[in-house]
Amino acid sequence: MIQFDHVSKKYGKSAVLAVDDLNLTIEKGKLFGMIGPNGAGKSTSIKLMTGIIAPTEGRVLVGGHDMAQDPIAAKREIGFVPDSHELYDRLTGLEYLNFMADVYQVSAADRKAHIEKYLNLFELEDAAGEQIRSYSRGMKQKLTIIGALIHNPSVWVLDEPMVGLDPKSSHVLKEEMRRHCDAGNTVFFSTHVLEVAERLCDEIAIIDKGKVLARGTMEELRSGESSSSLEELFLQLTEAEDEEA
Ligand SMILES: Nc1ncnc2c1ncn2[C@@H]1O[C@H](COP(=O)(O)OP(=O)(O)O)[C@@H](O)[C@H]1O
Ligand SMILES: [Mg+2]
Repeated sequence: MIQFDHVSKKYGKSAVLAVDDLNLTIEKGKLFGMIGPNGAGKSTSIKLMTGIIAPTEGRVLVGGHDMAQDPIAAKREIGFVPDSHELYDRLTGLEYLNFMADVYQVSAADRKAHIEKYLNLFELEDAAGEQIRSYSRGMKQKLTIIGALIHNPSVWVLDEPMVGLDPKSSHVLKEEMRRHCDAGNTVFFSTHVLEVAERLCDEIAIIDKGKVLARGTMEELRSGESSSSLEELFLQLTEAEDEEA
């Protein structure tokens, strides 16, 4: 479970809030998508949720642990796939995965089974012995995904995860996200690709200028508006916002 309790974030001396009074609870077993245009505050929300940055106001709880009070317990719950893939260039893929398994104290038997399964699933077996600096962007992305899942996290957080993946890998990833939810975990991801959110998510939040404009299941979102597609709804909400501003 992830809880944002009146969370706001202001960067440095900026006059505006990158995240403005975010109040969200995402239950176990839910696949949750945060969608919004560039600069909406998606990555900031994710960095707050993963404890990379601290809120200006409010608090974040992950698996019931307060990120500010008990960061290690909160972070232990999380597997994180960031939007940039700055990995350790000189490690091999396999060394990186073992490093992640060490950090999260995963047993030898569990890590072996996990690594074998996922290298196969994402077709990275042949590259696993090579240094990461030789990897393409998509290969780095896949390695990050495998590493993030190594401790079977109760909360899996992904920032724009489909970017840079080929259609097959993207399909495998979406199946894994669903599988992880069905196993009783929470999955939170951000995207600006509406079709992905529309098809994949149990629940969606539309965010712009740091504020959640709408939140609910696709059916709930549709019932409030006359539009049929998420795209129409998204455009209506974000344009109404611009007119008010
Ligand atoms: N490190 C930072 N310092 C100052 N402003 C930032 C920083 N990171 C993001 N911002 C600003 O915060 C707002 C939200 O950004 P971000 O969360 O990255 O949006 P998104 O991921 O939805 O594209 C934007 O206006 C962006 O310019
Ligand atoms: Mg972003």
